[in-house]
Amino acid sequence: MAGGAAAAVVPLNPAVESLSWMLGSWISESPGEGSYPTIKPFKYMEEVQITHVGQPMLNISFNSFNPETKKPMHRECGFIRIKPGTNKVAFISAQNTGIVEIEEGEVKDQELTLASQSVARMSFAKEPHVQQIARTFRLTEEGNLEQIVSMATDQQPLLQHLHITYTRS
Ligand code: HEM
Repeated sequence: MAGGAAAAVVPLNPAVESLSWMLGSWISESPGEGSYPTIKPFKYMEEVQITHVGQPMLNISFNSFNPETKKPMHRECGFIRIKPGTNKVAFISAQNTGIVEIEEGEVKDQELTLASQSVARMSFAKEPHVQQIARTFRLTEEGNLEQIVSMATDQQPLLQHLHITYTRS
């Protein structure tokens, strides 16, 4: 794919240098943990691609699957942008569940914390409806990428839904 080839040869745009620790192909090192007060706890695997094509943004895709059956589960793709000259970050994501959301936050050292500014959904999205999403990404001392996702629905306050650690694949 042209974008993939470009990613290998084009230098990183200096605007996204502070996010360069996220770049790469990642795979959950062990199954991630999903939970919420209203659901049965579950395990999942996830493949992550974080690339660039020289633009002042990163391209992201997260594709999860069932650890046993390998059946695809939640998928999302989008972009991570940074306000030039600042540590202010926007995380823009379209999800296969019919949610489109924008989170904003800050990158500090090798940690990115985000909270939703806007969550939109298709008119026939499954209930309960998501009202807020918050995430933290960080690079661990071992060089792994960790993601924690919390959400609030119209029935529950902001509580953790996902925790996963990825290793480079
Ligand atoms: C359940 C949202 C990511 C797997 C749910 C529910 C919501 C939700 C609203 C229903 C909760 C309830 O019934 O009270 C989200 C959002 C995500 C996300 C906003 C990303 C920002 C993921 C990922 C997986 C996942 C990555 C990995 C496989 C599940 C499962 C359930 C669930 C298995 C329970 C069964 C079901 O309701 O389908 N999620 N989710 N979710 N989520 Fe997520």
